[in-house]
Amino acid sequence: MLDAVRPLPADPILGLIGAYQRDPNPDKVDLGAGVYRDRSGTTPIFEAVQAAERSLLASETTKSYVAPPGDPAFIRGVIDQLLGTDHPAVTDVRVGAVQAPGGCGALRLGAELIQRLRPGTPLWVSTPTWPNHEPLLGDAGLKIHAYPYYDHDAHAIDFDAMHATLAQRGPDDVVLLHGCCHNPCGADLTHAQWDAIGDLALERGFTPFIDIAYHGLGDGLDDDGYGVRTFAGRLPELLIAYSCSKNFGLYRERAGLVCAVTPSTETASAARTQLNSIARGIYSMPPAHGAAIVGRILADDKLTASWRDELDAMRGRLLDIRRVFAEAMAHRGADFGFIADERGLFSFLGISPEQVEQLRDHYSVYLVGSSRINVAGITEDNVEYLADAVAAVLDV
Ligand code: LMR
Repeated sequence: MLDAVRPLPADPILGLIGAYQRDPNPDKVDLGAGVYRDRSGTTPIFEAVQAAERSLLASETTKSYVAPPGDPAFIRGVIDQLLGTDHPAVTDVRVGAVQAPGGCGALRLGAELIQRLRPGTPLWVSTPTWPNHEPLLGDAGLKIHAYPYYDHDAHAIDFDAMHATLAQRGPDDVVLLHGCCHNPCGADLTHAQWDAIGDLALERGFTPFIDIAYHGLGDGLDDDGYGVRTFAGRLPELLIAYSCSKNFGLYRERAGLVCAVTPSTETASAARTQLNSIARGIYSMPPAHGAAIVGRILADDKLTASWRDELDAMRGRLLDIRRVFAEAMAHRGADFGFIADERGLFSFLGISPEQVEQLRDHYSVYLVGSSRINVAGITEDNVEYLADAVAAVLDV
């Protein structure tokens, strides 16, 4: 059997990590995979994470299994940060939540739950969306469809087109939305637009599934959680996939959470049992360490305050460097002002695949073929080099 196995090309995003590492050019710039980098270009470990790890190490007494839904402090802490302790879905105990191996694990559990309930359910994703959404959710058996989202020429959301497509959906459909810091375009719904999509979901009966992987990196924890909070308050049902990879810097620890917000406590509890059984059938249980760190931080006021400060500083740097890059391009006669207006780690440069290749081959600047850049890869030290390279391939 195995002699039939054929190699596959590298992942379009993760494959860039190795290509960048192999490049000997000292001026190389990594704008590929979505990891935060500080001013020196490193991806730091949060001080709050280090403190939580030290305290875990000092107090841990066993490596025995955790109960199926996962670490209770982690689950409670994330839900409280996201929805708030006094949110009606929380006080009415209508959230069925299960710890997952990262945001990817959370998305897959959510998709498998939908597939168990209604095999082949149509799942609507934005155009564009994160390329991994398709295999993650489609391989569970859901039928992937696209709704319009980002207008590349206008560098903005085409909300009318999005609204018109979602207005045709019904109770058989699930609609995937990016909670904040849209990956790959960085253009987020305004509060009024979230409200309008919420109205549609109520009117048409479709189920929203919100992927929130950058909570706190757009406009702050409160603002970034607006869509999730209002939908959980207004709609009878909602699925949420939450990732702690970026906002706690725990990428390789795989700490995520899937939540089913349902009309009743009984349904939430039933959803939890289903999610547990799906996880048991795939990987049995998620890794404990990352979730234990998050649980410890969020259960401790001092660590939470320190984590929030560090997250604020990260967000501030992303906003600054977006502006600095747009200004550097303006000095070269090119308008990239939209990059300063977008949020989170990602934006499109809006250049062709050939120009992306030229950037890589001639300037050792690595970005995804769609021209998505991770703005955290830009620093005060490389921004002039990068702007020169982009200006050269654009011929401005
Ligand atoms: C990204 O989009 O670059 C990140 O979410 C990393 C990944 O897994 O693709």
